Amino acid sequence: MKINGTPFRSIWFEEGEVRIIDQRWLPHELRIVPLRDRADFATAIRDMWVRGAPLIGATAAWGMAVQMAQDPSDASLAETWEVLHETRPTAINLRWALNEMKRHLSPLPAATRAAAAAQRAAEICDEDVEINRRIGLHGLEVIRQIAARKQGRVNILTHCNAGWLATVDWGTATSPIYHAIEDGIDVHVFVDETRPRNQGALLTACEMNWHGVSHDLIVDNAGGHLMQHGEVDMVIVGTDRTTAQGDVCNKIGTYLKALAAKANGVPFYVALPSPTIDWTVRDGVKEIPIEERSPAEVTHVQGKAPDGTVLSVQISPDGTGARNPAFDVTPAALVTGLITERGICAADPAAMAAMFPDLAR
Ligand code: MRU
Repeated sequence: MKINGTPFRSIWFEEGEVRIIDQRWLPHELRIVPLRDRADFATAIRDMWVRGAPLIGATAAWGMAVQMAQDPSDASLAETWEVLHETRPTAINLRWALNEMKRHLSPLPAATRAAAAAQRAAEICDEDVEINRRIGLHGLEVIRQIAARKQGRVNILTHCNAGWLATVDWGTATSPIYHAIEDGIDVHVFVDETRPRNQGALLTACEMNWHGVSHDLIVDNAGGHLMQHGEVDMVIVGTDRTTAQGDVCNKIGTYLKALAAKANGVPFYVALPSPTIDWTVRDGVKEIPIEERSPAEVTHVQGKAPDGTVLSVQISPDGTGARNPAFDVTPAALVTGLITERGICAADPAAMAAMFPDLAR
């Protein structure tokens, strides 16, 4: 997608180095930084310079490639898998990408690993872009149907940032939106601010601005009210891990939106790239590890001061503690459909296995 007319990806290889957009500073500053060694990659994922399940996976793949150029030994391969895998626990794309790199590199002689790793990391990025483009085309069909039925503007609510900044390009939940706009459909997006880190307010709103998409930022608690008053035609969210039975783990607060959507007859879709399916687990509530992040993310908020500096301010009393589960699980029964790169399927084990017979166990 473009920033002020210039095409960007969220991660790329240029002039012999891997570069990323450091998302901690958006939307106030566009900072591009290189990641030069394994420690840089681990920090960038753990401290959320990059975030979003597909981008975490792509970054880990490039981290493995950069490490292979420095030390292509078996020990280095194994250690890098561990170091990068422990950075964040919930998004399954991290494990998927590291396993994919390991599977590809392990049989090769050490001398050939650096080149092979760089090539596979670049392919993983290109594959992500193509997956998301296809998700967009399938999601477009749903938006087209709503537009035809309604004969008017289609209002879509989204949570967190499942946009191109969370992937390599296009985004998952936003790809159908971008495709619908290209198709000439009148779309309006309600952007959940997504406390505590405000990925909606900071990143999705930023993407909508860059792309000229009609949108309103709303507080996380407004979605139910808007749905009750017929102001939301569909919800599309991303996912960090979806189980073999269709339980959807995503940013904290997604579950409440799904409950409100069910209660108000609003279709609730999940944009799901196949590397985000964890075929090894079924019951998402019991089996998916939920990342607990720092209480400081809840007790403080970051924003831009009138003089332009980006700063963090405390919003709670001294001495008040906080809990900060970063993700929740929406049970399959609340999901209208999974928009995958192969088409849309029901969130149930049989439908998912039929859509991905080559991947399902
Ligand atoms: O903590 P984050 O910002 O990495 O969480 C991101 C999300 O929850 C996204 O919705 C999810 O990764 C889907 S991204 C296409």
